Amino acid sequence: MTFERPNIAAMQGYTPGEQPAGDKAIKLNTNENPYPPAPAVAEALAAVHSEELRRYPPPTASEFRQTAAELHAVEPENILPTNGGDELLRLVLTTFVDPDETVVVAEPSYSLYPVLTAIQGCQLKQVPLEQGWNLPGNFSEQLQGAKLCILVNPHAPSGHLMAVEVLREVANSFGGILLIDEAYVDFIDPDKGYDSLPLVRELDNVIILRTLSKGYSLAGLRFGYGIGSPNLIAPMLSKTRDSYNTDLLSQRLATAALKSVDHARQGWDRVRASRKKLAAELAQLGMPCEPSQSNFLLCQVPHKPGAKALYQALKDKGILVRWFDLEGLRERLRISIGSEEENSALIDALREILGSTS
Ligand SMILES: Cc1ncc(COP(=O)(O)O)c(C=O)c1O
Repeated sequence: MTFERPNIAAMQGYTPGEQPAGDKAIKLNTNENPYPPAPAVAEALAAVHSEELRRYPPPTASEFRQTAAELHAVEPENILPTNGGDELLRLVLTTFVDPDETVVVAEPSYSLYPVLTAIQGCQLKQVPLEQGWNLPGNFSEQLQGAKLCILVNPHAPSGHLMAVEVLREVANSFGGILLIDEAYVDFIDPDKGYDSLPLVRELDNVIILRTLSKGYSLAGLRFGYGIGSPNLIAPMLSKTRDSYNTDLLSQRLATAALKSVDHARQGWDRVRASRKKLAAELAQLGMPCEPSQSNFLLCQVPHKPGAKALYQALKDKGILVRWFDLEGLRERLRISIGSEEENSALIDALREILGSTS
């Protein structure tokens, strides 16, 4: 006997990347940050008295909202703190999309999107990306009649960066909401000049997803936020989120992390430098990578041994990377940028497995 709603009974849940117990494995599979969070985060944690946990936290995470607003030169009304970026995705769907309405996503992209639309029971349209991970020329036409479009930028799993102008065009020609998932935005090379925040100031149908999981080394904390105009933020803030959707500890630590953005920036620089080095080394081993503006590389794997076998061979050596059993991705591996030592261990292991001494 199942009591599940039919759409829940019919769907598959999200499969997260492996999270092995202990710290023996070299984890290059879930795009975590290889460097520790800012010292101010540890200080904020130490400063919490257990007595404070007796009371509910500030319901709207007001200090965090203020801090994020200052960082992005917007107003607190433009900020919605959430339990990870994932909660923002769920809130946008439950707040704005009816079951008979359509959500458009690019294919491939973050595999949680189809899971969340299946839970909501709404319609999903997956638009295949073209060569070079670009949107098809007729993308705006494909959006006609849809309620929500979710685009991840930099793109996952390729790391490809779309120009703000492309996003502006999409948002301008679209009668629904454009959610720009910027989970990996912090790792974009500064010389690209990428800044999508003007879109939020100009348009009332754009919401940006940010997370502290990647850029601020806080995946374990579960903290993210949305940036959008008040017509999008207010209904989620005052109606659809849980009354206390972020807890006291995470509010304090997330606020400390954003206030220490300069510390985080040093980590972003190191990841960018490692990304360049690792991409060159992988290419030398016959594993060319897509140009990435993110904290991971999507690389081609030689026919022999093939991506799945290489994933397994690395795993046998205690190195986890991500292999996707999906069209267009089966012959590739997605590798998170690790610390310098982790990246070297990866290259050594690959040399051994591929029998190369280059
Ligand atoms: C593309 C993308 N969006 C959003 C998220 C959500 O991150 P979190 O819920 O950890 O904030 C992730 C996490 O891996 C992601 O890859």
